[in-house]
Amino acid sequence: MIFAEEQHRLDEKRITLRSARLDEAQMLLDYLKAVTGETRFLMSEPDEIHYTLKDEEQFINDNNQSDNKLLMMAFVDGEYAGSCSFEGESGSRRKRHRAGIGIALYQKYTGFGLGKLMMQRLLEEIKNLGFEQAELSVIDNNKRARHLYESLGFKEYGVLPNANKYDDGTYSDNIYMVLKF
Ligand SMILES: CC(C)(COP(=O)(O)OP(=O)(O)OC[C@H]1O[C@@H](n2cnc3c(N)ncnc32)[C@H](O)[C@@H]1OP(=O)(O)O)[C@@H](O)C(=O)NCCC(=O)NCCS
Repeated sequence: MIFAEEQHRLDEKRITLRSARLDEAQMLLDYLKAVTGETRFLMSEPDEIHYTLKDEEQFINDNNQSDNKLLMMAFVDGEYAGSCSFEGESGSRRKRHRAGIGIALYQKYTGFGLGKLMMQRLLEEIKNLGFEQAELSVIDNNKRARHLYESLGFKEYGVLPNANKYDDGTYSDNIYMVLKF
């Protein structure tokens, strides 16, 4: 689905939120490679991002045309800062009240409230669409993300120990969280 363009102000900065356009596929690929390299808190390593430009265009199209998923981009004073997204569970009717969400910003745009603004807007959309709960997973030592999700009402419901093993041989756990509307 399409997230119609919105303007906000945060910390003296002009924030634009909107869906992705097809000609932004390369920008999204560059972003995926950059953000996965900037933190240990995302689900893969940069050298595991093998999408082609065509894949990414397809991804943008899928999101924009679907009625149960959404990709929302954020721009800070006109510069691309990161994205968040949701995808409704499909398949069995028993799962269709649930939406999975994710978010990642370039490090340079973290820490001034953008993540909170994006999540608040995303959650409003999900709720208005009739979903009954939002779900996510977060790596245990990602304090900022956990604080953000807790402040929005998410509750921890489980831990998968050693869910991630890094190239240096260390591990981290996944924390699973749910927000019931
Ligand atoms: C996680 C992420 C989305 C948060 O967005 P953000 O814009 O940086 O966060 P915000 O500035 O909105 O701050 C969110 C809250 O965390 C708090 N916070 C900031 N740094 C913190 C830290 N190191 N420890 C605990 N809380 C922290 C803020 O004070 C704020 O809380 P408040 O609203 O009660 O004041 C963003 O940092 C990011 O994309 N990080 C890299 C990728 C990532 O980790 N994605 C999430 C994967 S689950």
